[in-house]
Amino acid sequence: MDTLKEWQRELWKEFNRFYGKIGRNDPCPCGSGLKYKKCCLKKGYISISKEKLKEIYFKRYGIRLKEEKDIEGIKKAGELALKILDTVESKLRVGMKTEEIDKIVHELTVKNGAIAAPLNYRGFPKSVCVSVNEEICHGIPGKRVIQDGDIVNVDVTPILNGYYADVSKTFFVGTPTDEAKRLVAITKECLKRGISMVKPGNRIGDIGWAISKYAEEQGCSVVREFVGHGVGFDFHEPPQIPHYGRRGEGIILVPGMVFTIEPMINLGRKEIRILDDGWTAVTADGSLSAQFEQTILVTEDGHESLTPYEL
Ligand code: MF3
Ligand code: CO
Ligand code: CO
Repeated sequence: MDTLKEWQRELWKEFNRFYGKIGRNDPCPCGSGLKYKKCCLKKGYISISKEKLKEIYFKRYGIRLKEEKDIEGIKKAGELALKILDTVESKLRVGMKTEEIDKIVHELTVKNGAIAAPLNYRGFPKSVCVSVNEEICHGIPGKRVIQDGDIVNVDVTPILNGYYADVSKTFFVGTPTDEAKRLVAITKECLKRGISMVKPGNRIGDIGWAISKYAEEQGCSVVREFVGHGVGFDFHEPPQIPHYGRRGEGIILVPGMVFTIEPMINLGRKEIRILDDGWTAVTADGSLSAQFEQTILVTEDGHESLTPYEL
């Protein structure tokens, strides 16, 4: 019984509801090939092999659990993504056009043997998303000139050796206003609280619950239209990770899941509008919006960020 982890118990309650009660003479669901009565029923618990779990999560949810070699690959892509963000940060200046950030990201990505995932993704024309002030996300780098006191989100996703890592930060340029400082601090804390909910046995809804509870307590709002997502083999994989939700609802988190958490928090109301460029999302009320994003792995006993930075 000692090897039975609480999350496995939770998972089996769930699967029993889904597949119906297991008969004594049925094949054991742990995948041993023995009858249930000769195997896990006798042991007093049901353990699921990694292979079986992988199969169930793919068949049931379309979620592709990652193995050790995949995790190493995503981690390498994550290191490059963080290096790119550091370089951008060191070059950010008042008076700079957002297209200059695109140039930095593109060149550094290519120099490191990687591909910028945003470029040509569903027609996106640039290598990075740059979203300033009231822009929530998916800002297209261009002629916009960064002003003193602006907040600038830079969202990078390199593909390295076939693996994707997705990470973003919101930077201050020049001297930030008090409200910008407050919003950015709240948004960072939202990501931190979302990440802290990640462990096997918890559910996807727990993440959004923790984020929206804090954001709303602070008088801010959570964007609904864009969500975190599975990542690693592709840019956007199942499942979706909403930044709002109910505690105890949604898919059970299991080791090997890799997904982003990327709360977009508005100082004003949550409603959005898409600009005529077809991409840039802005706050409908013109209020400031901030975002932080990391790529998170569910481990046996909690989580590990594959794009770690201090929050
Ligand atoms: N990086 C964004 C995310 O966090 C997605 C950008 S899609 C693009 O999911 F086409 F705008 F690049
Ligand atoms: Co993302
Ligand atoms: Co991103």
